[in-house]
Amino acid sequence: MRLEKLQTNRSRTWTRMAMLAALLGGVGFTVAETAVVPPHTPKVGAIPKYPPGMFQPPSPTTIPDDEMGAMIRKGQRIFMHTGELAPQFVGNRLACANCHLDAGRMPDSAPMWAAFVSYPAYRSKNQHVNTLAERIQGCFTYSMNGKAPPLGDPVLVALQSYFQWLATGAEVGSKMMGSGYPKLDQPEREPDYFEGQKVYAQNCALCHGANGEGQRSSDGKQVFPPLWGPESFNWGAGMHRIGTAAAFIKANMPFSRGGLLSTQQAWDVALFMNSHERPQDPRFAGSVDATREQFHASDDSMYGRRFNGHLLGSGR
Ligand code: HEC
Ligand code: HEC
Repeated sequence: MRLEKLQTNRSRTWTRMAMLAALLGGVGFTVAETAVVPPHTPKVGAIPKYPPGMFQPPSPTTIPDDEMGAMIRKGQRIFMHTGELAPQFVGNRLACANCHLDAGRMPDSAPMWAAFVSYPAYRSKNQHVNTLAERIQGCFTYSMNGKAPPLGDPVLVALQSYFQWLATGAEVGSKMMGSGYPKLDQPEREPDYFEGQKVYAQNCALCHGANGEGQRSSDGKQVFPPLWGPESFNWGAGMHRIGTAAAFIKANMPFSRGGLLSTQQAWDVALFMNSHERPQDPRFAGSVDATREQFHASDDSMYGRRFNGHLLGSGR
């Protein structure tokens, strides 16, 4: 039963790989650049093993068979299938696990075991100490372009139960190895849109689509998540920041081939990705200029900049 769940995740990954293979065959890409690689969990039934020294979250087979266990499983399912199981709080086609990989377990993709032991924490984004619940609400508002579940809502209870269980044995208050995204060096030259466009065409478009729209299977399931456009994260999300996206991409993309891109390529493709239109910042202050001034006044954000004759943040 519990193993079955793990295998469902794995077979989803395989579905993606199968789609990929079909695409490769059908469209006639050069296979060398985008070879089909097995997911990072090589053996069916195996628990993913992370590098030595890295925290090892428990195996899903050890989730207890009681009321608490039921809540932990519910949290895991919401994390994987957020739009289906918490639709009232989701305004796009993403799931939590699209950015926090391997169901929130993968080091260097802001894993949830590390998050669990680091809150409450001060955040400069909203200039106060945030509880873990408030941090999760933030990802619903911005990354999921949705609504924050109210405190005490079963969705928040389930997610926090899952994270606590993932952190079994972790040291409270420690800055754990593999937490957040690894800090990325500055690029050697300014990130460049056209260089990024080339990186995108060669390394990303196959899965995420020529227009960043992602891909759905024939039954409507999102197989590869959208990177921009109306169904992606909004202008207030951390991932819209060029530096944050570059760090995530360098460590985790192309999927299962993290580390493939050079630092420069990661910055270039992050700039390219984040120079496209996406849903409005929910903190919109009446005009794009005012919103840029208040929340986006840095080189790290393309919001409010004019590009190809279009004012980013003004909609399509
Ligand atoms: C579009 C990508 C994206 C999606 C989808 C997303 N997040 Fe995040 N999340 C981020 C980014 C970016 C950060 C900040 C990571 C960093 O800079 O270290 C983050 C941080 C977090 C943190 C704090 C991590 C830490 O170590 O401080 C939590 C908790 C979290 N997200 C939970 C969620 C939950 C729950 C969902 C689904 C409801 C979700 N996220 C969906 C991108 C995303
Ligand atoms: C082999 C297919 C594949 C390739 C190639 C690939 N990705 Fe992804 N990408 C994925 C999958 C799958 C996820 C979601 C992970 C999950 O749910 O486990 C993802 C997630 C993401 C996310 C976070 C979710 C979102 O929609 O915002 C970003 C950003 C991203 N990819 C950027 C890139 C970039 C940039 C490249 C090229 C350098 C790239 N990806 C190449 C499959 C791919």
